[in-house]
Amino acid sequence: MSEEVIDPSLAAELPPPAAAPAEAMPAPFVPPANIKDANDETIAAAVALFKQGEMVAFPTETVYGLGADASNPDALAKIFKLKGRPTSHPLIVHIPSAEHMDRWGRNIPEIARALAKMFWPGPLTIIVERAAGVLDAVTGGQDTVALRVPSHPVAMKLLDAFGGGIAAPSANKFGRVSPTLAKHVFTDFQLDVPLILDGGATSVGIESTIVDCTSNPPRVLRPGGINTAQLSMLIGSSDGDAAPDAPRVPGSLPSHYAPRAPVRIIRRVDLLEQLGQQRGGRSIYVLGFEVSVPRLAQTHQRIVPVAAVPYQRTLYATLREFDAAGADLIFIEAPPRSIAWAAVWDRLERAATDHSQKRKREKSIKKKIAGAAIVPAATQAEEASDPLDGETGES
Ligand code: TXA
Ligand code: MG
Repeated sequence: MSEEVIDPSLAAELPPPAAAPAEAMPAPFVPPANIKDANDETIAAAVALFKQGEMVAFPTETVYGLGADASNPDALAKIFKLKGRPTSHPLIVHIPSAEHMDRWGRNIPEIARALAKMFWPGPLTIIVERAAGVLDAVTGGQDTVALRVPSHPVAMKLLDAFGGGIAAPSANKFGRVSPTLAKHVFTDFQLDVPLILDGGATSVGIESTIVDCTSNPPRVLRPGGINTAQLSMLIGSSDGDAAPDAPRVPGSLPSHYAPRAPVRIIRRVDLLEQLGQQRGGRSIYVLGFEVSVPRLAQTHQRIVPVAAVPYQRTLYATLREFDAAGADLIFIEAPPRSIAWAAVWDRLERAATDHSQKRKREKSIKKKIAGAAIVPAATQAEEASDPLDGETGES
């Protein structure tokens, strides 16, 4: 008798088969018509689209980009319109190799060439003075241009085949979490992008490091995929903060890279208490470290390793999953405060900013209320309610 056959007389005593939890069986993802596996044929189709002034989304090693011919103003206008991005915010020009730097930039300092030599192809964006003829649509009217040679094999093939510069911001709606999978691009833009080249999950997972080489010493405007310790060997130490007068860098706005649900960064020791204070019925998601988060009913947890590189690889996909699952509130356990986590901290703080600004507003309202002689009924009710009420669905 085979082991799988159950004696019918015993069957009644067996517990009923456990129903698989609904979330263990997500609906299979059926790729929409505009997502195509990246191969020679689809890359050739992408090049043809660029030449016709169309947009194509493509994988880079950092995040997916929404690309267009950097020399075609009409094509660039489509990017700004689709992303909902102000036209004053400049785009990164992706180029096939460092030899192309002189076509886009001028007065290129030695340090920019040294950085390119050390980190290209790779997740580093270098800002230099713009060459004559570079479109205002690319630079947002500034006299500098951002250049990058990506290392993803699909991006490299695409750039080689196209031969020119591809201007590409991250392929997400303005202010939202960058895409690390082809389906994320579809979530934000549906069929409005004619072609989304699917090159799988991106390996770095957060955007490139941006270094402004027009100042001396160069300044890091955005920490990112390049290891900060390695970078500081060439440019000296940098605190990684964008200069307050940094030219229109959306990624340096206080609120950016944000999921729809409010995000709170929280220390491990405070997590249990905070969870305990939450009202029932709210969908709470926790991103915590392997060793620390106790299993709690009523919360959905994603446990991640305490290592910056794998952490940043999955961070955006996780935030998008939490949103898609209908999270009302996201708790993120505070990572270590070491240099290796600088880029992660930068993104987490921006993702959490909406929430912390709201808390500040609430505190100042409460202060005003406390100081007021007569408290209107409406504000009394507000005062008595859970300060986190009303956040649901806020973006
Ligand atoms: O990893 C990345 O950098 C991805 C992939 C697709 O390459 N791209 C990306 O692009 O993150 P985007 O547009 O989402 O962010 C680029 C940042 C923006 O904040 C933009 O304002 C800034 O670079 N930037 C572009 N040109 C600049 C310039 N000339 N001066 C200062 N900042 C600039
Ligand atoms: Mg972006």
